[in-house]
Amino acid sequence: MTRKLRLVTGIVLFLFVTGHLINLAFGLISIELLDELKPVFLAPWHNPIGEPLLIVSMLVHGLLGLLALYHRNTLHMTKLDASQLLLGLAIPPLLISHLLGTAIGEEIAGAQASYASVLTFFWVVAPISGLEQVLVLIATWIHGCMGLFVWMRLQSWWPRIAGFAYPLVVLIPVFALLGMVEAGKEAIALQGDSAFMAKVAEGIDPLTNMAAELMAIERNVLIGYGTMILVVLVARAVRLRAQRGLVTLTYVDGPEVRVKAGPTLLEISRMNDVPHAGLCGGRGRCGTCRVRIKAGLDSLPQAAPIEAATLEQIGADPEVRLACQAAPVGGQSLEIERVLPAYTEPEDLHAKKASMPAPLSVGGVQ
Ligand code: FES
Repeated sequence: MTRKLRLVTGIVLFLFVTGHLINLAFGLISIELLDELKPVFLAPWHNPIGEPLLIVSMLVHGLLGLLALYHRNTLHMTKLDASQLLLGLAIPPLLISHLLGTAIGEEIAGAQASYASVLTFFWVVAPISGLEQVLVLIATWIHGCMGLFVWMRLQSWWPRIAGFAYPLVVLIPVFALLGMVEAGKEAIALQGDSAFMAKVAEGIDPLTNMAAELMAIERNVLIGYGTMILVVLVARAVRLRAQRGLVTLTYVDGPEVRVKAGPTLLEISRMNDVPHAGLCGGRGRCGTCRVRIKAGLDSLPQAAPIEAATLEQIGADPEVRLACQAAPVGGQSLEIERVLPAYTEPEDLHAKKASMPAPLSVGGVQ
């Protein structure tokens, strides 16, 4: 359930961001066209279903991200995981001023945010905030692409669309940034135009009148967000401290390692540089990290629903567990065998799936 929720809310947010960036790309033509197309791109979200869906997705996705941080047993992770985590944590503080100047500003200050006013603000009034927008655009796009890529590359249809998807991953943000730059230059050139400045005033003046309140909101949001991360990290440290004792883990083809209890079997492999497949990045979706427990199975904690569901989907034997989900407790000795080669690729799984007589779902989340 949690992983499905994280995926679905991530897709909702990604769709919103993609529409926003495509809209921004029209800045290559003119600010007027940007503003004309804005209602078209916002139409899916400016209605009684889209708006709550977007807000709830934002909150739920953020909270699930913090929950995942709490459940991390080690901060030793792949570069992909580390980048995704850090970018995800950076997005809310980078995004808050943008939200205050647009959606929230419209609600509480009655500002009529338009691209004319937003671009004037970022290119003329507060260029540092403009730079922040570039960073949030890049961070959000990369974070979203990474999350979707980890899921999509496990799907059987991914090879058919990959050739179209890869160029879009680059073209959409590049054109959005170019649109932002061209429209910014146009906004600077139009600072003497009375009709343009009247539109700018509708967006900026109400915000200027409430500047103190908006800054207080931003400060409180940042303090609250920082506090939440701190609480999560402290709670995580307390949880890990409570899991005392040592675990001895023997791989059938070597090596044998002894570690403090807490990490999952996959995390132990990574911490000790033992090659171990894990295509979904330890999210319990792909089943590629699965191990056969040769000794010590009974002393392992029971599989949680996420793990049990994936084990059932891949038709695993009773002595097989997902290394990314099973975490041995202190004092345990286990002997394990990695079922799949350490360098398993998504294509290997798709080929295996096609040749299986019975259904084998390697995607986990369908
Ligand atoms: S890494 Fe994908 S299920 Fe464990």
